[in-house]
Amino acid sequence: MEEFFKVASVNEIPPGGKKLVEVDFLPVAIFNIDGKFLAVEDVCTHDGGPLAEGELEGDEIVCPRHGARFSVKTGEALSMPAYEPIECYEVKIEDGDILVSVD
Ligand code: FES
Repeated sequence: MEEFFKVASVNEIPPGGKKLVEVDFLPVAIFNIDGKFLAVEDVCTHDGGPLAEGELEGDEIVCPRHGARFSVKTGEALSMPAYEPIECYEVKIEDGDILVSVD
């Protein structure tokens, strides 16, 4: 069974906002895209850049190291120099809290 961890409350991350958290020893970036919360591994597939430190443009995160873009909805790599998708994680909201599973 999937295990969900509480990472933040919904009012900590406004629309367009992001937060770096740790889930089960993994760095995870949480995004609020128009009120929907999404979670991805905070590791760029090009060279390990910290994605939560990049700019969020719509539903795309720009890696702060060399500028690769990823969809935070699908994890897809949208521009060079990254080719491989980033890992996306399941999110659920319970009683105003954001919970993430990294199973
Ligand atoms: S580490 Fe992210 S683009 Fe190079």
